[in-house]
Amino acid sequence: MKAIVITTPGGPEVLQLQQVDDPEIKDDEVLIKVEASALNRADTLQRKGAYPPPKGASPYPGLECSGTVLSVGKNVTRWKVGDQVCALLSGGGYAEKVAVPAGQVLPIPPGVSLKDSAGLPEVACTVWSTVFMMSRLSAGETFLVHGGSSGIGTFAIQIAKTKGATVFITAGSEDKLAFCKNLGADVCINYKTEDFVTRVKEETGGKGVDVILDCIGAAYLQRNLDSLNFDGTLCLIGFQSGAVTEIKLNTLLPKRLTVQGAALRPRSRENKAMVVNEVEKNVWPAIAAGKVKPIIYKSFPLSDTGEAHRLMESSEHIGKILLVP
Ligand SMILES: NC(=O)c1ccc[n+]([C@@H]2O[C@H](COP(=O)([O-])OP(=O)(O)OC[C@H]3O[C@@H](n4cnc5c(N)ncnc54)[C@H](OP(=O)(O)O)[C@@H]3O)[C@@H](O)[C@H]2O)c1
Repeated sequence: MKAIVITTPGGPEVLQLQQVDDPEIKDDEVLIKVEASALNRADTLQRKGAYPPPKGASPYPGLECSGTVLSVGKNVTRWKVGDQVCALLSGGGYAEKVAVPAGQVLPIPPGVSLKDSAGLPEVACTVWSTVFMMSRLSAGETFLVHGGSSGIGTFAIQIAKTKGATVFITAGSEDKLAFCKNLGADVCINYKTEDFVTRVKEETGGKGVDVILDCIGAAYLQRNLDSLNFDGTLCLIGFQSGAVTEIKLNTLLPKRLTVQGAALRPRSRENKAMVVNEVEKNVWPAIAAGKVKPIIYKSFPLSDTGEAHRLMESSEHIGKILLVP
C-alpha cells in the first residue's frame, strides 16, 4: 500500500508518499480500506519529532480515519467485511489501509458521508472524555473553549450546546468569531483585541465560567484560573504557548478550583474502547439528530499531505482538514 512516511523530523516537506508493507491485523483488530483521514495538531508535532508514536502504534501519522472493513481478526464479532466505519487510531491513518482494535471502531452516523466521518472520532473522543466524563459539564453551566474555530473547538461548541451549556469561545479573527457564533457559541471573544478574563467576568456577572477546555497552556494558565467560577474546573489538553509557567496558588484555594489534564493517544486500548463506547452512546445520537455536524474546511489528496500541514500551521482553517488516498 501507499502511506505517508516521515522521512526525517522536520517541516512539511519531510512527509513523503511511499510504497510500504500492508499492515497485519491481530485477532482483535480490523483492517480498514481508508476513505479519508483527518489532520490533528499533534500530527505536526509528530512530524517535527516532538510526539513519537506510542509503543506498538503504526509509525505512519494519522489519528483517525473512515473507510470500509477489508478483513476482521478471529475474535472480532461486531464488524464484518464491507462495513462502512470510522475509527480512532493510535497512528497510521495517512495511508491506504490501517489496522485498528475493534473497540476503537464506530459506525458511520446517519446523515454524515463516509468521507466526512473521518473528521469525527478524534474530536468527539477528546471532547467527550475531557469536558463531559472528567470535568462533568452539565446543563445550565457555563463553558469556555479556547480556539473555538479549531477542529476541537467547532465540535466542542456544538456538543456543549446540545447538552444545555452556555458556550464562550476565543478565536483570533472576526471571521472565525462569526463562524463560531453561527455554530451556536453564545459569547465570542477576539483574544487579539480583548482580554478574555475581563469579558468572561462581564458576561457572568463577575462569577466566571464553570468549565474551561484549554489548548494554549502556559500563557493562559493564570488567566484561566482567574476566569473560573467557584468549584470550577480547568481541563488542559494542549500547551501551544509552552508547558512551563508559574501560578498564584492562592487563586485555587478560595474558589476550590480543579485543574485536570488529559491526552487521548497514550490511553490504553481498553481505555480508548471505553471512551469510544461512551461516545457512541452519548454523542452519536446528537449527530444522528443533525444537532452536531463535522466541520470540514478542505480535503487534500494524500500526495499533498505537506500542503495540508502547511495549512494547519497557518491556522487559516476552521474545523477539520481531510486527506484522501
Ligand atoms: N490532549 C488531547 O488528547 C488532545 C486531542 C486533540 C487535540 N488536542 C489539542 O487541542 C488543540 C486543538 O487541536 P486541533 O487538532 O483541533 O487543532 P487546530 O484545528 O489546528 O487548532 C488550533 C487552534 O488554536 C488556536 N489558537 C492558537 N493560539 C491561540 C490563542 N492564543 N488563543 C486562542 N486560540 C488560539 C488557533 O486559532 P486562532 O487562529 O483563532 O488563533 C487554532 O484554531 C491542539 O492544541 C491540540 O494539540 C489535544
